[in-house]
Amino acid sequence: MTQRFDVLVIGTGIAGLSYALKASQFGTVAVVTKKERAESNTNYAQGGVAAVMSQLDSFDLHVKDTLSTGVGLSHPDAVETMVREGPDRLKELIQIGAQFTYVDGKLDLGREGGHSTHRIVHARDFTGKEIERALLHAVSINPNIRVFEDHVALELITEHHVRTSPAFRPAGPIHCWGAYVLNIVDKRVDTFLSRVTLLATGGLGQVYVHTTNPPIATGDGVAMACRAGATIANMEFIQFHPTTLFNSGSPSFLISEAVRGFGAKLRAANGEEFMHLYDPRKELAPRDIVAYAIDTELKKRGDDHVLLDLRHLPAAEVQDKFPHIYTTCLQKFKLDITSEPIPVVPAAHYSCGGVMTDINGRTSVAGLYAAGEVSMTGVHGANRLASNSLLEALVFSDRAVRASESYLRDAPADVPQVEPWDDSDTLNSEEWILVAHNRREIQQLMWDYVGIVRSDLRLERALRRMELMRGEVEEFYKRTKVSEGLI
Ligand code: FAD
Ligand code: SIN
Repeated sequence: MTQRFDVLVIGTGIAGLSYALKASQFGTVAVVTKKERAESNTNYAQGGVAAVMSQLDSFDLHVKDTLSTGVGLSHPDAVETMVREGPDRLKELIQIGAQFTYVDGKLDLGREGGHSTHRIVHARDFTGKEIERALLHAVSINPNIRVFEDHVALELITEHHVRTSPAFRPAGPIHCWGAYVLNIVDKRVDTFLSRVTLLATGGLGQVYVHTTNPPIATGDGVAMACRAGATIANMEFIQFHPTTLFNSGSPSFLISEAVRGFGAKLRAANGEEFMHLYDPRKELAPRDIVAYAIDTELKKRGDDHVLLDLRHLPAAEVQDKFPHIYTTCLQKFKLDITSEPIPVVPAAHYSCGGVMTDINGRTSVAGLYAAGEVSMTGVHGANRLASNSLLEALVFSDRAVRASESYLRDAPADVPQVEPWDDSDTLNSEEWILVAHNRREIQQLMWDYVGIVRSDLRLERALRRMELMRGEVEEFYKRTKVSEGLI
């Protein structure tokens, strides 16, 4: 079955939904998402959105903190753009109904690692859920947007899939005209044709055995864009969050950095503090430094976790500020964080690299835009400043809308005839163990060899094994009917 829209958005997190709402003002919009619509990294965000919203703060300070946390590899123009446009984008979110936490009529600004002042706008400790709720509500009442749940994008449609017309195979850049999408319920691959496509598929934490990311975060967008010929950059910069609840299963339960911003202390399992050995900012150093410090202490001491200690903080305030963390720890893990230290370990959290874009969300493929965690705008460099991800998604999805609008004005009104998905010569496999095993092997290998601290020796080992698995997976893919598990 073929569906036609002006704009196709892949993903229903903050980037995809913000973009869809604005793009609906100039065209019909299809939004496909692989599970239920709220399921996204966005929905689990705790700490908040970093933005200059106070007289005591300044753009220069936020830019400086972002550049310094990015360890010299951020692109200053992208950072400047994000920081200066951020407050207006945040106000738009408030206008569509997102309810953040206020104290005495003013936004309650939290603090996190790497920030030199209080600037984190939040909805207690469930900021992402509140943002997702507000955006989904706005989308649900918009007649120009159709959301398709249980639809997994498999492959971007480019010149490669065009049936005949040489007119659609011009020399020059590759073009994108939508995507092949697996309808999980009807078990069928549909063709979604569009003049503009936004990739907003989020992160890839699930490539690691320990991650804060939910199961949807499997890097599909980067993989699709890479296969389509788009430029990908900075994939080596995976951010590890220092504090996730030890042994909390998969995904690992996050203990927000805002908890350290509120005064929690890190201690080794025997109670000794150690952060002063690594950075004068101690618990409020950027994430890469804190994760490295914990990793080093664990290896040095032979321990399997460190402790995050809130016992010296007023219990009532902890419960009020962090109701989600307090209640989840108490009810699910039988841990009262006001009277017991929290055992924590780092876990893979965020992909700083991704599909490379300019500061208007344009990728190297014409008609293909990217925003949010799947993209590499240049903002984060080697390491993202806490709570800059939601902000980046808001700012650059907005810019991508404006660039898409002008692209639509100039691009041909028609899209070419494309081949339907061809699954002749494929079978339903009875060998699922092969794929399941590859997946577990990749997750473990990434954790062991491509983790917080890396060496040439480990990376070379990882590469050799990965190349072997790539061959096995490709061979399996070619002869097997496509399904969500296979993707
Ligand atoms: P997502 O919100 O992840 O959305 C991706 C969407 O794409 C999902 O709907 C998914 O189902 C869909 N999708 C993926 N692949 C496909 C496919 N093949 N076909 C169809 N649909 C697909 N950042 C901050 O700035 N502040 C925070 O406080 C914060 N806290 C965090 C806490 C946690 C536990 C986690 C995991 C992350 C946190 N982050 C935080 C990071 C931030 O939440 C994410 O980077 C951001 O939400 C990404 O938004 P997105 O729209 O790019 O992607
Ligand atoms: C957190 O709340 O610690 C996560 C914030 C982020 O990922 O920016």
